[in-house]
Amino acid sequence: MKIGVVGLGYWGPNMVRNFLATRGVEGVVCCDMLTRRLENITRLFPSVEVTTSYDELLQRDDVKAVAIVTPVSTHYALALKALKAGKHVLIEKPMTARSVEAQELLQLAYERNLILMVDHTFVYTGAVRKMKELISRGDIGDVLYFDSVRVNLGLFQHDASVIWDLAPHDISIMDYLIDQKPISVSAVGIRHFNGFEDIAYLAVHFAGHLIAHFHVNWISPVKVRKILLGGTKLMVVYDDMEPSEKVRVYDRGVDVKEEETVYKTLVQYRTGDMFAPHIDGTEALSRMTGEFVTSIQTGKRPIADGEAGLNVVRILEAAELSMRSGGRRVELTPWQVYDGARTSKLA
Ligand SMILES: NC(=O)c1ccc[n+]([C@@H]2O[C@H](COP(=O)([O-])OP(=O)(O)OC[C@H]3O[C@@H](n4cnc5c(N)ncnc54)[C@H](O)[C@@H]3O)[C@@H](O)[C@H]2O)c1
Repeated sequence: MKIGVVGLGYWGPNMVRNFLATRGVEGVVCCDMLTRRLENITRLFPSVEVTTSYDELLQRDDVKAVAIVTPVSTHYALALKALKAGKHVLIEKPMTARSVEAQELLQLAYERNLILMVDHTFVYTGAVRKMKELISRGDIGDVLYFDSVRVNLGLFQHDASVIWDLAPHDISIMDYLIDQKPISVSAVGIRHFNGFEDIAYLAVHFAGHLIAHFHVNWISPVKVRKILLGGTKLMVVYDDMEPSEKVRVYDRGVDVKEEETVYKTLVQYRTGDMFAPHIDGTEALSRMTGEFVTSIQTGKRPIADGEAGLNVVRILEAAELSMRSGGRRVELTPWQVYDGARTSKLA
């Protein structure tokens, strides 16, 4: 099959490179409304075909699927058109600017039996897959908290705040690792320069004794990419800036011993060994493009499917609402999964 890649700015060329190397892909057709972007992509990858017309791309029978790598405000309209034209769709994160849009895309993909996937790149990294393995095997115990920091200087987006730009990465990691549905979100943020928040702090609440926190910032002097995951058995630090040993697992924690009277609860700290598990270094994006093509060929549900995309958008949307209302807790209304595989509807 041939794959269409729409949007060849900063991220699009990475998508093209990986699709060209993906088994089962016979060619890539690139589409951008700016001809200079198309000239650039043919210089980088002379084998690609190019067009400035999205409609022309969608009319081609040999193009079975489309990857949408344009700014978030355009994702919904472009994806809707592609699904209606019978194409499988891969959308960049965040999936859409509103959850109702994501919902509609899910429904349409389900009705037309098409794959709808989101590029939640980080869930395809060796580091996050290793963390998933540790949690699934029960090594971590019950997860108590998920705490992430993603800060650096720039790149300011023109159409969204820092939460829509940076937080999708960490929220998608949380959604993949933690098998519980969040119940509410609270967030605060501040704008300094272009009318959108450049610093934000989000808290995601669950029904049990679990809390998640996300700190995102475009005006930090240093780049930090860190996730702390605390469990009842082990604790994990994932530092993406570390060249090796990105994941460190600590046998540390707290043991509580109840004494005979309620007034005496003994808290003891456990400080055991640390180990750094082996991490598979395969490029995350190549694993992601590979899964997209395999899903099209086999009908198998991808990890970062439309539903995962919707989960992230719902949290971002609630965080945005909370920021606009002084940090109040915004409930995430329960929603039902109608079909175990691909579609969901608001209850
Ligand atoms: N997964 C990741 O790690 C990652 C990293 C960076 C960006 N992204 C995502 O990729 C997307 C694009 O980001 P970017 O930084 O590359 O943006 P960008 O502004 O650099 O490039 C976007 C390109 O899309 C083109 N475009 C816009 N609307 C179009 C339309 N209707 N038809 C055809 N072309 C159109 C523009 O001309 C431009 O060349 C965003 O959703 C962003 O969140 C993901």
